[in-house]
Amino acid sequence: MSVDPRPELQYLKPAEHGGPDLAELNELGLSPDLILDFSTCINPFGPPPGWRKVLRSLPVEFYPDSDSTQLRRRLASKLGLSGERVLVGAGSVELLRLTTLSFLSPGDLVLIPQPTFGEYEMASRLAGARVLKVRGREEDDFRFDVEQLAHLLRRHRPRMIFLCNPNNPTGQYLKRQEVEVLLEASPESLLVLDEAYISFVRDPWPSLDLLNRGHVLILRSLTKDFSLAGVRLGYALASEKGISVLRRVQPPWSVNVVAQKLGLLALERDDWLEGCRRKLWREQVFLKRGISRLGFQVLPSKAHFFLVRVGRATRFRKLLLQRGILVRDCTSFGLPDHIRLSPRSRSHNRRLLLALSELREAL
Ligand SMILES: Cc1ncc(COP(=O)(O)O)c(C=O)c1O
Repeated sequence: MSVDPRPELQYLKPAEHGGPDLAELNELGLSPDLILDFSTCINPFGPPPGWRKVLRSLPVEFYPDSDSTQLRRRLASKLGLSGERVLVGAGSVELLRLTTLSFLSPGDLVLIPQPTFGEYEMASRLAGARVLKVRGREEDDFRFDVEQLAHLLRRHRPRMIFLCNPNNPTGQYLKRQEVEVLLEASPESLLVLDEAYISFVRDPWPSLDLLNRGHVLILRSLTKDFSLAGVRLGYALASEKGISVLRRVQPPWSVNVVAQKLGLLALERDDWLEGCRRKLWREQVFLKRGISRLGFQVLPSKAHFFLVRVGRATRFRKLLLQRGILVRDCTSFGLPDHIRLSPRSRSHNRRLLLALSELREAL
């Protein structure tokens, strides 16, 4: 006898992400250690020195504290919020799924401005929701059209709206007034504000007081800030009621002992993050200038990563990969002519520029 899954899962495909595909590298005879990865947007400078040593003394034989109590409290006091308004998760992706499972019922409508992070649609569909997508126009560099979104919110009254700010993959950053327009247009919708990359915006506006409106949930990622992609660490901020629901839905022991410990250390290292941020901005300017000089169109971005128009992105990515350089083909975002790049160190960025100039000649 076979048991069918829920019908809405039948045609669900995993969202695509940057990062190396080991099977593909294998096929091309490339070693993962020798690949320069410009395709993910995490801090490329690694965690602070000394953190690896800490791992040796961790109590891995015990279950972790399901509430991440110490980390949650420290985070809350740093942000000036009560501990009941904070939930720590195994990356913001876990918190995203908890959010849709907690607040969406089958058939509910979710508004997802495009192009954006594919996991919003995935999480919404997993909860059985319907998804309404609306795209920013190419002539506006794919920026979300706030007036159009406000109109759709008033007209369709979706249960939830996702806003990635700054947006992945464009790096476009909505102003506070624009987010407020959307909040006012949707008093009955939960606005999920994904600030996974907020640490890499040069002049971010303060968003935490938006939580007082009751229908806002903010997601952030320590994974990106401190280069902990292999550890998985993020947090959600919302009303006490909202967080208490997510907490009930979260599996026990979700945030492991390594993540909790490194999270506590991260909260003491604003200096490290600030240093990395400055280097990244410098490298972003260097890279953008170099790429523009080669004649490629570089799109504006308020984050460290940015889009480049290359034409036939899938082929372009493959050609770069053969030269040991990995970039994000944006076809899965609905942008088949664009790649997304996230700067690395100066020497790595120089290698990327060299590979791009060789390709420019060859194409
Ligand atoms: C916009 C956005 N939000 C969340 C995430 C996931 O972050 P985490 O590693 O904290 O789960 C990503 C990862 O690519 C992302 O691009």
